[in-house]
Amino acid sequence: MTLRLVVLISGKGSNLGAIAEAIDAGRCDAKIALVVSDRPDAAGLDIARSRGIETQTLPFEKGIDREAYSAALADLVAQGAPDLVVLAGFMRIVGKSFIHRFSGRMINIHPSLLPAFRGPDGVGDALEAGVKITGCTVHLVDEGVDTGRILAQAAVPVLPDDDRASLHARIQRAEHQLLPEVIHAIANAKMRLDGGLLSRVTIDEDACIIVPRFES
Ligand code: GRF
Repeated sequence: MTLRLVVLISGKGSNLGAIAEAIDAGRCDAKIALVVSDRPDAAGLDIARSRGIETQTLPFEKGIDREAYSAALADLVAQGAPDLVVLAGFMRIVGKSFIHRFSGRMINIHPSLLPAFRGPDGVGDALEAGVKITGCTVHLVDEGVDTGRILAQAAVPVLPDDDRASLHARIQRAEHQLLPEVIHAIANAKMRLDGGLLSRVTIDEDACIIVPRFES
């Protein structure tokens, strides 16, 4: 089944681009119906526009009630009639009304191996802690911050000379493989959202990226 996606972004949108490229290459059985951003200046909006994907923005005005914003955001997302809502670098914590409306069909990509380093700086917090392996996680979104059911993870090494930027770049290479693969696995019922199925693990020799793969 081709999954209809609504993708939420706040920034550069490299994960959005990776999903779009995987779709074009036939590696991800999905269609991006709509891209929504809370930031009108998000560079990822240009990625969407250049591909002819519909975009909408809903800036968060100072002083606005979070639940009111979440309800308006939910209405906007619902316009895209999503099978799956993908938070791909969406940096705003959404309220309960939003989460309940898309409960069980909303995923997020987070730049750490959850449950370690939840929150807004998963990369910096991992560096600070001195871990030697970190990575990225695709998880269902629930009411907590990065607490939903873990669907898939990819691991990357932390190298001795890493700074935040170099480590994040390595994690993002893993994200760009993992997120489209998970969407594809959901589309083809290789993964159930009520419990991730991981069928195979491969190791990318260049970067030591460990990425779960799902039988096609
Ligand atoms: C990613 O590293 C993701 O894990 C985090 O935000 C970042 C978004 O990057 N939630 P991009 O906008 O997709 O390039």
